Amino acid sequence: MADEKEPIGVIGVGWVGLVTAACFAELGHEVWARDIVPAKVESLARGEVPIHEPGLPELVAQNAERLHFTTDMAEVLEHTRLLFVCVDTPPTYSGDADLSRVESVLDELGDSSEHALVMKSTVPVGTGRSIQRRRPGTGYVSNPEFLKEGNAVADFMRPDRVVVGADDGSSEYADRVAALYAPLAAPVVTTDVASAEMIKLASNAFLATKISFINEIANVSEELGADVQEVAYGMGLDARIGPKFLQAGIGYGGSCFPKDVQALKQLAGNTGYHFQLLTAVIEVNELQKRRTIGKLQKHLGSLEGKQVALLGVAFKPDTDDIREATSLVLSGRLQGEGASVRVYDPVAARNGTSMLGGARICDSALEAIDGADAVVLVTEWPEFGELDWIGEIKARMRVPLVVDGRNFLDRERLVEAGFTYEGIGR
Ligand code: UGA
Repeated sequence: MADEKEPIGVIGVGWVGLVTAACFAELGHEVWARDIVPAKVESLARGEVPIHEPGLPELVAQNAERLHFTTDMAEVLEHTRLLFVCVDTPPTYSGDADLSRVESVLDELGDSSEHALVMKSTVPVGTGRSIQRRRPGTGYVSNPEFLKEGNAVADFMRPDRVVVGADDGSSEYADRVAALYAPLAAPVVTTDVASAEMIKLASNAFLATKISFINEIANVSEELGADVQEVAYGMGLDARIGPKFLQAGIGYGGSCFPKDVQALKQLAGNTGYHFQLLTAVIEVNELQKRRTIGKLQKHLGSLEGKQVALLGVAFKPDTDDIREATSLVLSGRLQGEGASVRVYDPVAARNGTSMLGGARICDSALEAIDGADAVVLVTEWPEFGELDWIGEIKARMRVPLVVDGRNFLDRERLVEAGFTYEGIGR
């Protein structure tokens, strides 16, 4: 029994669910992963991974024998006792999290007490307590995920910490969940359910705060003649501050930070507390996404009739996710100003077709740049650093103006070659 691995159930095979399933299979567990979308399950069963996540297709292929994809909940319930809930909890219009998919899972489970729920989906603080009230005598563990898109497999296998939240009556399940992660040799934070839920939201909110903070330092640095890159480096060497998430840019996006910061603010608001700091973090981010327009106008005057190339659609590199991406805001704003917009992204552009308005989706960076009055680097895909800026790009542009939204390009080289360069906070 000692080295027999616990079979794992995964409910919801989106990005979190698939990474969780593949990584537990890699750790030697039989995994039954269930999704309600038949096409997704069929393609996974054929070994096709429907999302862009480095290392994931290989992991799914390597562990095909241990990974069982199904649409049938009964199959999962038959083979497993620990069910990792990985369904999405998108924001509603009110800014609260939409828990309808979690509710559907609960409905399907009915009052079966044999199966313990392990909540990986990000849920409002208090959700676990309310589920436990409705399912007395059933195991419940909060086990939030801290995976970054584009680095999720490595984040799962080498986590900074594992958080396991359980209330009275579920400590046996908490031990079982903690044991699953033992091979990863990471610190395990064992706590109550509400605190585990809060650790997740507070971590994302803090990281978003760091980004909005450095973006404001960048904006002020532009006025005062400082260079935010130098400032962030100097700040980050202080161990109390740390160097990570101090990269100034054109705002954070993705499916997590915008949603979770809003959800935490809303959650506080529901208790009558006005979380002023998070209100500012959100507003700074919204404005940061739009500041590029002013930078373009500074050099081009009116944008009416101008052609602008957006390099990058994904909210960050190494993902095809475009949720809350700055590219979407910029595309809309630029067209609102009368500019024509061309976009290119190595993997994500087609995902954004309907949300990019009338922007022309291009098959290469060169096509996007051809005849442009300005290029905006939105996503720091490595291939954008390797373009022949000095030769071909400059020759193809009508006006050699670059707004480097990620401080990613070689400023000195571009300026030397005759480009007008606008970075962030430099
Ligand atoms: C984020 C967290 O980093 C994960 O720990 C968490 O598990 C995940 O949300 C989630 O809740 O599921 P993710 O959204 O994948 O992960 O991406 P990040 O790498 O954190 O980047 C988020 C955004 O912040 C991106 O738009 C990125 O460009 C921006 N960013 C990040 C900056 O503008 N500056 C930085 O210094 C770092």
